[in-house]
Formats: sequence, C-alpha cells, structure tokens
Amino acid sequence: MTRIALISGDGAGPEVMAEAEPLLDWARARGRRLEAKHLPYGAEHFLATAETLPEAAFEDLRDEFDAILFGAVGDPRVPTGRHAEEILLRLRRGLELTVNFRPCRPLPGTRMEGLHLEVFRENTEGAYCLQGSTEPGRAVDLAVHTEGAVRRLLEAAFARARARGCTLTLAHKANVLKHGHGLWLRVFQDLQAAHPEVPARSLHADALLCALVQDPTSFDIIAADNYLGDLISDLTAAFAGGMGTAPSLSWAPHRPFRCTALAEPVHGSAPDIAGKGLANPVGMLLSTALLFSHLGWEAEAQAVEEAVAATLRDGARTRDLGGNLSTREMGTAIRDRLPR
Ligand code: NAI
Ligand code: MG
Repeated sequence: MTRIALISGDGAGPEVMAEAEPLLDWARARGRRLEAKHLPYGAEHFLATAETLPEAAFEDLRDEFDAILFGAVGDPRVPTGRHAEEILLRLRRGLELTVNFRPCRPLPGTRMEGLHLEVFRENTEGAYCLQGSTEPGRAVDLAVHTEGAVRRLLEAAFARARARGCTLTLAHKANVLKHGHGLWLRVFQDLQAAHPEVPARSLHADALLCALVQDPTSFDIIAADNYLGDLISDLTAAFAGGMGTAPSLSWAPHRPFRCTALAEPVHGSAPDIAGKGLANPVGMLLSTALLFSHLGWEAEAQAVEEAVAATLRDGARTRDLGGNLSTREMGTAIRDRLPR
C-alpha cells in the first residue's frame, strides 16, 4: 500500500490541491493501491494552535508515508514566514530531499512549444541553510555546501542527461564563491571524468542567464545550487507560460527514509489571487504526474501529462494564460480527458 500525505497549505495551495486530489482517486480506480491522508499544517493551523510541524508529525511523515503532495505555504498574517520555514524547509531538509527537479515543457500553443529544459536544483542547503546573523550595520547569511549533497544532486543530473542523451550544464560562480562553488566545480569535474558519454560543461551563472534568455534551446539540463537553481527555474517557468504551469518533484536518491519524495508546484501561495478561483491548477496537476512517475506509475503519469496537453491544445485556459476558466473549470476540463 502506497501512503501519500496531502498538505494543502495556504492561499492558492488548497485551491490547486482540490484539483489534484481526484487524480489519486482516479489512480486508485485504475487499480493502484494507495491511501491518501490530509494533514492540516499551514498558516491557519499555526495561527490557531501555535504549531507549525510538530516533531511527532514529522516523524510520522518520514516513517509511515511514501510521499507527500504539497500545495504551497506563505501567508501575509505570518510576515516572518516562520511556519513556512518550519514546515516546507523542514521537510526538504529533514527528509534529505536533495534533488529538486523542475522540468520546463512549454505547453501546446505557447511561443516556446517544443522546448525541453530541466533544472536540477540542490534543495536542502547552500544559501538556504538559514544560518547567519544581523548586527547593527552588518548582516551575514552563510551558505553551507556539503560534498555528499552536491554529489547526489549532480549524480542525479548526470544520470538524467545520460537517459535523455542530452547535454548538461552546471551553473556556478566559482570565480567569486571560491569555497562553496569551488566544491561544486570539483565534484562536477570528477563526474565529468566518470561520464565521458555525457556532453557536460560548466558556465558562470550570470553569463548562463544571458545565454538562456537569448537561446533557451541551447540548454537541455541545468544543475545548480539551491539559490541559483531557485532563480533559474522561475525563469524557465516563464518560458512555459508562467508560474501557474511549472511543476516540481523533490526526492532523496539515497532513500534514507520511507518517505522519499515531495511533489509541489513551483509557485507559492499567490496571496494576490488566492480564494478567487483564479489559480492555474496545471503546475499542481503536472506535479502530481511527476509523483506518479516517481512511484513507478508511468501509465498514470503519462495520461495526466497528455490530458493537460490536450486541454491546452483545445484552447482551455485560466486567466494567467489569457483565458477565462476558473481553477475548478480548468481542473475538470483536464480530468475529463483522462482515460477511465
Ligand atoms: P507566488 O508564486 O505565490 O506568486 C508569484 C506570482 O505568480 C503572483 O503574481 C501570483 O499571482 C502568480 N501565481 C502563482 N501561482 C499561480 C497560479 N497557480 N496560477 C496563476 N498565477 C499564479 O510567489 P510570491 O508572490 O513571491 O510569494 C507568495 C507567498 O508564497 C510568500 O509567502 C512566499 O514566501 C510563498 N512561497 C511559497 C513557496 C512554496 O510553498 N513552495 C514558493 C514560493 C513562494
Ligand atoms: Mg522560487
């Protein structure tokens, strides 16, 4: 029995989760043995109980579930973002979900149709290690990079490039971030030597961004640390139609715990449009497809991706893509195209 935890979170999170949850019922109806459980963690729960993600709940997720389907966290009523940190960053770090995979497949009918870019972002450390200090007139953010996580991330990127038969580019700034990105470059060069069959290069991230905007087709897979990968993958989301369409899957290639993956859209809680039925569910639904694929349910993963593509090909669009469908109408249109 595959156990999946659902954490809808805040803002637009619950709206897009409501469109993804029926996909689990659909997979079950097709014979997949799965059990889904909703967990309440998010801003509402934090404001009511002062609880973010209790330790016992974390341990239960880690040891009693196979994967997590996540909406988004972030709420203007919690301006410090403390609950988001203690829920989402805690899960990414605590479950050692080193690899954050963010594919960009521009949708049918959009300007960049045919592009196939993938970002492999380290997901647990670097500049997002939350270590530092603020003193009068001075502020410090540390960025901690460990060889174990860097190697895991890059090995996953090399493996993917080999499987796709495509090129791999490392984004770095080792010219100035001599220690941290120096480590990235050393491990990358190590793996380059071990995988001569993968066409691999490293580029300074600033020059890479310029080249990426000028000619996205000159990239296939980009690997980067947490901070650079965050920036690069929001840029590639724009190629695919915007924040509402971009999916992601985080996983732990070394499988340290039962729970090895967390699927979530790239976007946040979108407080500016939340609660109005304006959120595009495509990023969430494609994230669910990535989760199916992670579980080895390839037929279901492909069916969801095809249903999304067919729906967009028919011209159905939410407002962010220039249409007028609501979150629910778009979700329904996609699910109606799923095979029984
Ligand atoms: P955001 O991704 O929530 O929104 C950025 C822009 O994209 C907004 O204009 C929003 O309306 C639009 N957008 C986002 N999702 C959309 C969707 N499904 N359909 C159509 N349009 C969509 O990022 P922002 O505004 O920087 O952050 C808002 C909150 O979310 C903050 O509290 C932030 O900390 C949090 N956040 C959470 C993330 C997560 O849970 N993984 C990731 C990024 C931000
Ligand atoms: Mg981001």
